Amino acid sequence: MNRLSGKTALITGAARGIGLAFAQAYVREGARVAIADIDLDRAGKAAADLGEAAIAVRMDVTSQESIDAAVTETVRALGHIDILINNAALFTAAPIVEIDRADYARVFDVNVSGTLFTLQAVARHMIERGKGGRIINMASQAGRRGEPLVAVYCATKAAVISLTQSAALDLVKHGINVNAIAPGVVDGEHWDGVDAFFARYENKEPGQKKREVGASVPFGRMGTADDLTGMAIFLASDEAQYILAQTYNVDGGQWMS
Ligand SMILES: NC(=O)c1ccc[n+]([C@@H]2O[C@H](COP(=O)([O-])OP(=O)(O)OC[C@H]3O[C@@H](n4cnc5c(N)ncnc54)[C@H](O)[C@@H]3O)[C@@H](O)[C@H]2O)c1
Repeated sequence: MNRLSGKTALITGAARGIGLAFAQAYVREGARVAIADIDLDRAGKAAADLGEAAIAVRMDVTSQESIDAAVTETVRALGHIDILINNAALFTAAPIVEIDRADYARVFDVNVSGTLFTLQAVARHMIERGKGGRIINMASQAGRRGEPLVAVYCATKAAVISLTQSAALDLVKHGINVNAIAPGVVDGEHWDGVDAFFARYENKEPGQKKREVGASVPFGRMGTADDLTGMAIFLASDEAQYILAQTYNVDGGQWMS
């Protein structure tokens, strides 16, 4: 407990799922957090549940204006930003011959441009403040290799791994450590949507894909959002000072690298 005492964090896409679990875990560890999401109602409820240590911020990571406003609002409310978690993302699936250009652009806009330009805005704040910081990007096992039906999402997460490496090497001179977490299959609303895609494209029963992927995880089940919080706390903590440019698999043994 209290491994993040006195720290402040901006977490994108934190109104639900993994981002919300990160916000809850950071508050338990003594941090104050900005729950930033395009869904302000849900972010507001999540922040209210966490009490005085949390604020809700409206943020659309596809809009530069919204990114800048969210960073300004967070700095005004929390004083500064020590930690950024770039967590907001969309999933999509389609056979290669059916990929739609507009859907491709929509998903790249959130997962890749959103990650890069939020990282840029917060890095500028951290550099100006002169006290370094920690940036954690949410990659995925999907960024480690291609998958039939998931070309676009996989490509966005491969881009996140690459951006993590480049940003880490560029920002280390400012005392900013950039790393990424690559989850495997994590149950929740995101995977409800993934399951529905596979039901459509592979003629599966609702819930069947989840059961299949859960059984294929060496640990023996799908992950939960809480399975990921330990790594997110560690990467933001003083113990991780010498770690940068890495993408850590937290996936029950699914991917080995
Ligand atoms: N769930 C999994 O199995 C899994 C596996 C690997 C990686 N990941 C990654 O972990 C992260 C969190 O996943 P999750 O399962 O909690 O997802 P989720 O879909 O449950 O939550 C995503 C959140 O992002 C928000 N969001 C969407 N578009 C936004 C935008 N333009 N601006 C700001 N916020 C926006 C949504 O409102 C939502 O609250 C994502 O980066 C995801 O790709 C998830």
